[in-house]
Amino acid sequence: MTDIREEGRRRRTFAVISHPDAGKSTMTEALALHASAISAAGAVHGKAGRRGVTSDWMELERSRGISITSAALRFDYRDHVFNLVDTPGHADFSEDTYRVLAAVDCAVMLIDAAKGMEPQTMKLFQVCRHRRIPVITFVNKWDRPGREALELLDEIEERTGLRPTPVTWPLGAAGHFHGVIDRATGRAVRYTRTPGGATRAQEDELTAESARVELGHDWERAGEEVSLLSAIGADHDQKSFEAHESTPVLFGAALPNFGVARLLDTMVELAPPPADRPDVAGAVRPLDAPFSGLVFKVQANMDPAHRDRIAFVRVCSGRFERGMVLTHAATGRPFATKYAQSVFGQERTTLDEAYPGDVVGLVNATALRPGDTLYDGSAVTFPPIPSFAPEHFAVARARDSSKAKQFRRGIDQLDAEGVIQVLRSDLRGDQAPVLAAVGPMQFEVVQHRLSAEFGARISLDRLDYTLARRTDAASVPLLAGRRGAEVLERGRDQALLALFTDQWRMRSIMRENPGIVLEPLIADT
Ligand code: G4P
Repeated sequence: MTDIREEGRRRRTFAVISHPDAGKSTMTEALALHASAISAAGAVHGKAGRRGVTSDWMELERSRGISITSAALRFDYRDHVFNLVDTPGHADFSEDTYRVLAAVDCAVMLIDAAKGMEPQTMKLFQVCRHRRIPVITFVNKWDRPGREALELLDEIEERTGLRPTPVTWPLGAAGHFHGVIDRATGRAVRYTRTPGGATRAQEDELTAESARVELGHDWERAGEEVSLLSAIGADHDQKSFEAHESTPVLFGAALPNFGVARLLDTMVELAPPPADRPDVAGAVRPLDAPFSGLVFKVQANMDPAHRDRIAFVRVCSGRFERGMVLTHAATGRPFATKYAQSVFGQERTTLDEAYPGDVVGLVNATALRPGDTLYDGSAVTFPPIPSFAPEHFAVARARDSSKAKQFRRGIDQLDAEGVIQVLRSDLRGDQAPVLAAVGPMQFEVVQHRLSAEFGARISLDRLDYTLARRTDAASVPLLAGRRGAEVLERGRDQALLALFTDQWRMRSIMRENPGIVLEPLIADT
């Protein structure tokens, strides 16, 4: 009998959060090179070298040159099983990007040494903060000119509120990267580029004496900075890391694979394994209870020949075995798991068993929605995944009025799947709902799917609102008829959302009506 708690302890389930171009794809390859997942770099690269494109869905993805397919890369490292859950389409945000964070126990915040904290990193960080996901920071591209290490720490602290506690400290300024000092042991490690790149870098330990001779000023300076860090107490503290108060920081470069093994070691040593998960009522589902899992993403139409719909489930408790018949908590109906897969990009392999922390792809999952729970044995429902703050708004209309029914059905279906948020008001009427998106590419997906799957071509008129706040019925009259503001109801949860063209307009309305209720939605908190 496998010990489920022990299997859980061996799992590390995480996502990389970053701004486009910070090096997420390169880091994914670099991580996988240390593991048995793939044999050569390039196999998991999100931007090039895609093989065997199978669907028109992929065509949309390809023509935009971005990834809208997400899944998890599973690999072994030091007797641990890593699940790297992809944050999809990070060049163009969607709600999916945020939702996948419901599936992880830890996040690696990847920042560009020259650019520091960038807007999309901040947005994803805010979701981590809301969900209290511990964050490990990796300062990438140290092999290129960039900012001062201490200055970056200040920025991280200022922007995130987390106390940075460096695990490694760079030997040499950005652009003159020789290696790192490991703060826990005080050892110096020298990195040497492997010719041809894309393979593991050579790492040698330097004695203090040889480091002094070889690195001269860079060694002295790093030593002074490390002493300063110790003096100000910037040392790792597991409790505050897990409480989302501090962040271990590593310096490296994904491209020449500098510091990547240290990141994996840090994950093994510090990142939390899957834990007992509270259900919607607050009761805990122990890790070794019968199987339960959370659907965190549904990808429709990946393979149109089969009208494929694949649901990605994070195992929360118990052992998953392919072929199990589970219960779908939302409907109470049985769900057969004959087709369980492990999916990353174009690669799919059949998955026979999985443990807490693992990600399972279930094919033919038409009934499943993001946020749904599946279970075996005693019933459980996990808390729903929250809806995120939309920033892009457009009125949708059927181009052909004879397709009104298909249009309505399609919109409702995509709303239920969580593809887009649908807002309505009496004023606008039923045939002209407002679609609200976290990233504008969600509009293209809606347009594409409504026409391909429901035969309803639509026109979209962009609205110039940029922010949404939750409001209440008593505040509605205060907003009625105001220029640059409008209240609509979100179908998904009947929340009243007040939309504004800009901060300035919202603030002036708030000033005039001090009693008005305008609460930030998740991504703004
Ligand atoms: P992303 O997925 O976060 O968008 O970033 P990606 O990995 O595609 O990296 C963006 C660019 O930064 C790539 O260069 C990549 O080679 C480079 N890069 C990533 N990590 C490092 C690093 O540690 N050091 C250096 N020097 N460069 C790094 P590109 O020329 O835009 O693309 P490509 O032609 O290399 O794919």
